[in-house]
Amino acid sequence: MLRALTSALRLPSPRRPLEARGCAANLAAANREIQVCALAGPDQAGSPKAVLSPAGITEILMNRPSARNALGNVFVSELLEALAQLREDRQVRVLIFRSGVKGVFCAGADLKEREQMSEAEVGVFVQRLRGLMNEIAAFPAPTIAAMDGFALGGGLELALACDLRVAGTGHGERWAASSAVMGLTETTRGLLPGAAWAFSGLPLPMQIHHPYSILAGGTQRLPRCLGVALAKELIFTGRRLSGAQAQALGLVNHAVAQNEEGNAAYHRARALAQEILPQAPIAVRLGKVAIDRGTEVDIASGMAIEGICYAQNIPTRDRLEGMAAFREKRPPRFVGE
Ligand code: COA
Repeated sequence: MLRALTSALRLPSPRRPLEARGCAANLAAANREIQVCALAGPDQAGSPKAVLSPAGITEILMNRPSARNALGNVFVSELLEALAQLREDRQVRVLIFRSGVKGVFCAGADLKEREQMSEAEVGVFVQRLRGLMNEIAAFPAPTIAAMDGFALGGGLELALACDLRVAGTGHGERWAASSAVMGLTETTRGLLPGAAWAFSGLPLPMQIHHPYSILAGGTQRLPRCLGVALAKELIFTGRRLSGAQAQALGLVNHAVAQNEEGNAAYHRARALAQEILPQAPIAVRLGKVAIDRGTEVDIASGMAIEGICYAQNIPTRDRLEGMAAFREKRPPRFVGE
């Protein structure tokens, strides 16, 4: 446990930021299924109002329209590649997952690719998929899923691996095309929520103590989010929920009325990110670790984890800055050190 915590608490080292920072400048990425955009300056979402976004919000844009952002081989590889770079980038204070495909967040497993795979290949691929969800869950900075449109099966699992979820919602035909519809619908396709397998290559005791063994897929995250009975009902029936229904159950943090562009959830996610942005980045990251690890163990162990996290924050400049700003009656200027 201690080793797992130490690695989870490893704070990012300064590193050259991603080459492609900023969507507009990122022509080489245009053909990729996953694009990384670091926001700075005027709103790049095509909003009628220009909104200034302070640096620190990074987006992962999922852009595979031909398969409605289904989790295919290339898509998963590019997503893993992006996450591997971003997790070391201290400029990333909030990471937003959004879709560039209107009306769909992510259509889940790539059912066509999956159909072509042998049973052995499925096993290997599902392991990668589980690794992806775990990478998202273990991402050091806060993550937000902006769900405008369908999030089914693995698409909802991806959102569940994020810290926060926002859904666009609306009534009637006008908004139906881009309102969120979500569900762990795997049982309707003869599957079960798929990123939840144990580390089959490891002996059981090692699986249990592996840092990611508490961070599995839909069968594990949905009950932790909603409680066992409700999660069972949703998984057994494969039921699809609207954004409003999901919010009533506590599955999403916010459900917002859909807009003409079909990206209301994305705009709410941006607002949420901007609310997080001014706060002390190391304290936020350590708070995430304390919650994620602490809620998986008994309360006494959770308190110990909180203590370890708290101690990591004591030597930071930002802690001193917070107190100095209070004394000097000015807003703090946190630098993430
Ligand atoms: N895997 C592979 N391809 C997929 C896909 C998936 N999960 N979801 C959609 N596609 C493909 C379709 O096969 C279609 O390809 P085609 O143009 O070559 O026929 C294309 O994406 C468009 O799909 P379509 O169903 O026409 O889009 P839509 O906008 O009308 O509907 C969805 C969107 C997401 C509601 C619908 O595509 C769907 O239900 N997909 C399956 C979701 C699912 O069951 N996921 C797995 C859970 S285990």
